[in-house]
Amino acid sequence: MKVLMICLGNICRSPVAEGLLKQRAEELGISITVDSAGTSNYHIGEQPDSRSLAHARARGTDISDLRGRQFTTDDFDAFDQLFVMDYSNYENVVKLARNENDINKVDLLLNQLYPGENQSVPDPYFGGDEGFEQVYNLIDAAVTNYLKNFK
Ligand code: 4NP
Repeated sequence: MKVLMICLGNICRSPVAEGLLKQRAEELGISITVDSAGTSNYHIGEQPDSRSLAHARARGTDISDLRGRQFTTDDFDAFDQLFVMDYSNYENVVKLARNENDINKVDLLLNQLYPGENQSVPDPYFGGDEGFEQVYNLIDAAVTNYLKNFK
């Protein structure tokens, strides 16, 4: 199984999602390939946002080796499941889909936590620390639920 986590900048939410899914899968002995990308080109090559790094580190998740990259159409072929953080990401990704098969790979990550509700992981970039804490908690709960499919 190959999973791609997607947000806008690939520096706040999707690196946390990548790090947490890798970590929780490893803890459960589940073999899974995980990467992340941003729909924008704003932060290519950059380390995760310092606030995401600090909050993840404080909770035991090391994402310091991740670097921003931009989502490309090739990712539809390289991954089985594309999880977007919010509806704007969903629209940006689906715009690049070539066919129904591509579109069917895309879903909001929080549908793993709140099925069918199409909820978003709020963008914490312009907010305070509590936003980054909320991002970590929502993503942790969602990936933990997702991994129940593998048992
Ligand atoms: P992310 O957060 O999509 O979770 O990585 C953002 C990062 C950067 C920007 C917006 C959101 N930005 O406008 O540069």
